[in-house]
Amino acid sequence: MAKPVTAFTCTACGASHRKWSGRCDACGEWNSIVEEAPLSQGPGRGLGAARGRVIPLTGLSSDEPPPARSASGIAELDRVLGGGLVPGSAILVGGDPGIGKSTLMLQAAAAFARAGARAVYVSGEEAGAQLRMRAGRLGLADAPVRLGTETALRDILTTLDTERPDVAVIDSIQTLWSDTVDAAPGSVGQVRAAAHELVTFAKRSGVAVILVGHVTKDGQIAGPRVVEHMVDTVLYFEGERGHQFRILRAVKNRFGPAGEIGVFEMTGGGLAEVANPSALFLSERGQPNPGSAVFAGIEGTRPVLTEIQALVAPSTLASPRRTVVGLDGGRVSTILAVLEARCGVPFAGLDVFLNVAGGMRVSEPAADLAIAAALLSAREDHALPAETVFFGEVSLSGALRPVGQAENRLKEARKLGFSQAILPTVQKVEGTDGMRVTRAADLTSFTGETFGAG
Ligand SMILES: Nc1ncnc2c1ncn2[C@@H]1O[C@H](COP(=O)(O)OP(=O)(O)OP(=O)(O)O)[C@@H](O)[C@H]1O
Ligand SMILES: [Mg+2]
Ligand SMILES: [Zn+2]
Repeated sequence: MAKPVTAFTCTACGASHRKWSGRCDACGEWNSIVEEAPLSQGPGRGLGAARGRVIPLTGLSSDEPPPARSASGIAELDRVLGGGLVPGSAILVGGDPGIGKSTLMLQAAAAFARAGARAVYVSGEEAGAQLRMRAGRLGLADAPVRLGTETALRDILTTLDTERPDVAVIDSIQTLWSDTVDAAPGSVGQVRAAAHELVTFAKRSGVAVILVGHVTKDGQIAGPRVVEHMVDTVLYFEGERGHQFRILRAVKNRFGPAGEIGVFEMTGGGLAEVANPSALFLSERGQPNPGSAVFAGIEGTRPVLTEIQALVAPSTLASPRRTVVGLDGGRVSTILAVLEARCGVPFAGLDVFLNVAGGMRVSEPAADLAIAAALLSAREDHALPAETVFFGEVSLSGALRPVGQAENRLKEARKLGFSQAILPTVQKVEGTDGMRVTRAADLTSFTGETFGAG
């Protein structure tokens, strides 16, 4: 018969649990699991209880032209959306509090409106005067955006259904309140119900709906991950505090490639597009320093060069520090282990600090060789060759493995004034674009050639 309904949900990752526990074993977050009001299982539910209606089934072919996407004219945004906004799509824009979500969305709404789309911006967080002040500061006061301040989902849906704009921004999903759910705004139940209704409305009406969601550490407030599966496109707006760079990253897109990024800079006049992110991320780089390695990466469809910085110092701690910012900690541990076990370069008793300059986050395995190079260079206190970029994946055996899009990486490096690339022996390259290519079969031979006898 009916299985018991899962009644506990992690507010950080949305995982369902059968019982409460202090730590979510899906995402590792503490105090993030809350009890959800169980779905009612009345006699009308389930198969066999009552017969439903027959839904019409169709073939796969269609004579209808694909829906025209609307572009905002903000190239960094349009690319991340997969080439513009698809009518009737639902988009989630998540990000840390204060990172600039409202700024970006107000700019986007204004850009869509100026490009001829009808845009509505509904805020449940800020007063109208506050929003108009921001619009004034951003130079958007004359943009034909229709503004509303409301948190009641029913009223918002009725308004959107009457207005039928091309795009509606809802800022934020956590402030919405649906009277069909008996739970506080921001709770998993409310956030899911509100997202579900808005997504359904988008599909039915053809209005593109953009939901803003705060990434939160507060267990009582549901984070954007709770609704990721409901929407077509999930974008995260990222950046380090203290840096003015912001990255809009598509982590899921039913209408375009995931992994695509848009780069912005936060200025007094709002978010400015960064057309050449490599130049920006390398701008702080001076003379070649020990511990610095330039990685020729690919983010989405675009090559992006970043500087990986390592510091290795004697530790006074029983278990030395491993502080990693902007890179995957697990990946770094693996590379350290490979350096120790395969190349005989010990890091025991040494603190290791690693980060990506400019607040960028790099998750490509292709960065392995650059990470290893930065670590070795820092440990040996020996600068890597000047004007050199690195890419290649490191396997557990210490062998270097090939990566995709070598030509694009080399081309971008060339464009930014680099003259040499160090990459895996097995890497196929069609045309080096005038770059000098140095190859290494594994980390041991790379270490030997670059730093003498390891
Ligand atoms: N006058 C200003 N000059 C420069 N930058 C500003 C100015 N006012 C705000 N900012 C920037 O805008 C950021 C806040 O942007 P915004 O309100 O869009 O973020 P948010 O992600 O929507 O935040 P919240 O979580 O509060 O909704 C600030 O952190 C600051 O960097
Ligand atoms: Mg905001
Ligand atoms: Zn979780």
